[in-house]
Amino acid sequence: MTRIDQKTAIVTGAGNGIGRAIALAFAGAGANVVVSDVLVDDGERTVNEITDAGGSALFVAADVSDALQAENLVSTTVHHFGRLDILANNAGIGGSRLRLHEVEPDDFDRVISVNLRGTYLCTKFALPHFLAQSDGRILNTASTYGLIGAPNAPAYCASKGGIINLTRQLAVDYGHDGIRVNAICPGYIDTHLGRRGPQLSAEEFATATAIREKAAGMQPLGRQGQPAEVAEVALFLVSDASSFMTGSIVTVDGGCVTTFNYGEASN
Ligand SMILES: NC(=O)c1ccc[n+]([C@@H]2O[C@H](COP(=O)([O-])OP(=O)(O)OC[C@H]3O[C@@H](n4cnc5c(N)ncnc54)[C@H](O)[C@@H]3O)[C@@H](O)[C@H]2O)c1
Repeated sequence: MTRIDQKTAIVTGAGNGIGRAIALAFAGAGANVVVSDVLVDDGERTVNEITDAGGSALFVAADVSDALQAENLVSTTVHHFGRLDILANNAGIGGSRLRLHEVEPDDFDRVISVNLRGTYLCTKFALPHFLAQSDGRILNTASTYGLIGAPNAPAYCASKGGIINLTRQLAVDYGHDGIRVNAICPGYIDTHLGRRGPQLSAEEFATATAIREKAAGMQPLGRQGQPAEVAEVALFLVSDASSFMTGSIVTVDGGCVTTFNYGEASN
């Protein structure tokens, strides 16, 4: 069983979905986990799940797109646990499902700001600690939408493509310092990404859910993934089991990007 005992990890966006599953997996493998999210109740619920199971966790509220809050997240972690070993940049939003000419500038900026700038900011403030101890592991949550051109998601695809190449770039700059940087690209995972919030009516929510389920059904494994199936890979990538991996972009997608849907032509 993969262990990360005595490590301290930050997981952003850990109040729900994939981030929550990553936080639970890291804590279950022995790490002290700093659960971070903009949603206080959701983050505290994840902390309670960890501590109820006998694990070690602390909630720190932070909007990752805000420099001061990202800096406070890292400094509070180091102050509380005495060190930082692992950063999981997971917080992300989907944005509007429109073609680019219909996307408002503020909406485009918001998606880039949370997904890409948030990854930059948390990494920026974590790196000095990793450099001082000549050890650190960064795990970025990108997406299969960063590997392909997906319909009606220009800002999201751009942000996730940016995270993928930032991952490679960081691996180059910090490999000699003992810092490993990898990314996961989840496919269709059964979470509330893009479905939460007042912008979606019940009807739109149902339509979005049906589209996701249909798209997932056409992938080689024929279903949506569960957050825990992504978290298992995340744990591997921050553990010593992946000690010779850096700059790797790992799909966890049920085979989504290995092929395209042949539809009627397949037999
Ligand atoms: N669900 C999928 O199918 C899927 C596929 C590929 C990639 N991803 C990526 O996985 C990550 C997690 O998504 P999820 O599906 O678990 O979604 P989710 O909405 O269930 O969880 C995302 C969490 O991030 C938090 N968050 C949002 N904005 C934030 C901010 N500015 N600062 C801090 N926290 C913030 C939310 O409050 C929420 O708790 C995202 O980066 C997403 O892009 C998801």
